[in-house]
Amino acid sequence: MKRIYFDNAATTSLDPEVLNAMMPYFTEQFGNASTIYSYGRETRMAIESARKQVASALNSKPGELVFTSGGTESSNMAITCSVRDLGCKHIITSPIEHHATLHTVEFLKSMGQVEVSYVKLTQDGHIDLVDLEHLLEGSHVKTLVTLMHANNEIGNITDIAYVGELCERFGAIFHSDTVQTLAHFHLDLQKAKVHFISGSAHKFHGPKGTGILYTNHSVQIKPLIHGGGQERNMRAGTENVAGIVGFAKAFELSMLHHDEDMVFIRSLKEYMKEKLSSSFNDVFFHGDTGEKSLYTVLNAGFPINERTEMLSINLDVAGICVSGGSACSSGAQGGSHVIKGVYPHEHRVPIRFSFSKHNTFEEIDSVILKISEFL
Ligand SMILES: Cc1ncc(COP(=O)(O)O)c(C=O)c1O
Repeated sequence: MKRIYFDNAATTSLDPEVLNAMMPYFTEQFGNASTIYSYGRETRMAIESARKQVASALNSKPGELVFTSGGTESSNMAITCSVRDLGCKHIITSPIEHHATLHTVEFLKSMGQVEVSYVKLTQDGHIDLVDLEHLLEGSHVKTLVTLMHANNEIGNITDIAYVGELCERFGAIFHSDTVQTLAHFHLDLQKAKVHFISGSAHKFHGPKGTGILYTNHSVQIKPLIHGGGQERNMRAGTENVAGIVGFAKAFELSMLHHDEDMVFIRSLKEYMKEKLSSSFNDVFFHGDTGEKSLYTVLNAGFPINERTEMLSINLDVAGICVSGGSACSSGAQGGSHVIKGVYPHEHRVPIRFSFSKHNTFEEIDSVILKISEFL
């Protein structure tokens, strides 16, 4: 049975070209980048050229990027260090952030280190920017705003340029989890008024376990992980050289084919939306499915009944991979904090379809057919 993979917001397949670029660092070029002989110097060069390449694609400086183990670590570091090193005593966030953000914020609150405010959401799950402005206006201590660029479950995109301007006006620090948008959109970090962004390679056909934290040069933080002097003294631990090289290669390839891939993937999403609407009664789409949403994500809400409750399990048995809520809470159908946060009074079965350049219209037709067999 050939599987159909519609869960690209959870993770993507590794691009074979990325694997090729990584391979030498698993085999002959295995040197520790901290050693001074040629093996080490070669791997050091590979890391630094990866950093330069990613920095230039983001219009940032190499010294502003730290390679990490992924989006989770990057967000933990940005948020924890903003409190510990930058004196933030108040965090403004939203109830629908990824748990890497929410649980870090809740932990800092439980330790008595910060007050937390949750910004209101609009009816379709966007950040209420007027409420954000009020919260910033009413905050009289150093404040961190942590809001994701795009939501991984419903796909809504926040205008981070505008949030950055608001933060600048009120002297707040701004962190954005860009895990779902990095290498999916052009980001210019000279223009975006953001102090920190988090990114992760496995969301754009790179390897799992490698991410970045961007820290704007205007803010100075100390490491979260202590030990050796790796990552320019910002993150201790022998570098994941193959992962770092893979990150840069995946980023390069994504940006190279970005425009045509975006148009194609968006057309898949629109086709799926149209097919779901015309084939089934009472299908609702969670979040904003228009321009202000990820072109990769479509979250459908089916009316609750015995058949729809079994839908994602039945699709799995049929070799179709989709998510009910986020990957981290899969199995907990309908238990998603994002869906509950936006639609507290609505009870539907959410199925997230998320696409990549490897999907096809034929796959969508097969999935629609399967759904109609199950409903
Ligand atoms: C929006 C968002 N933030 C953070 C993460 C965590 O990233 P990682 O898997 O690299 O730790 C994910 C991955 O599921 C995500 O979708």
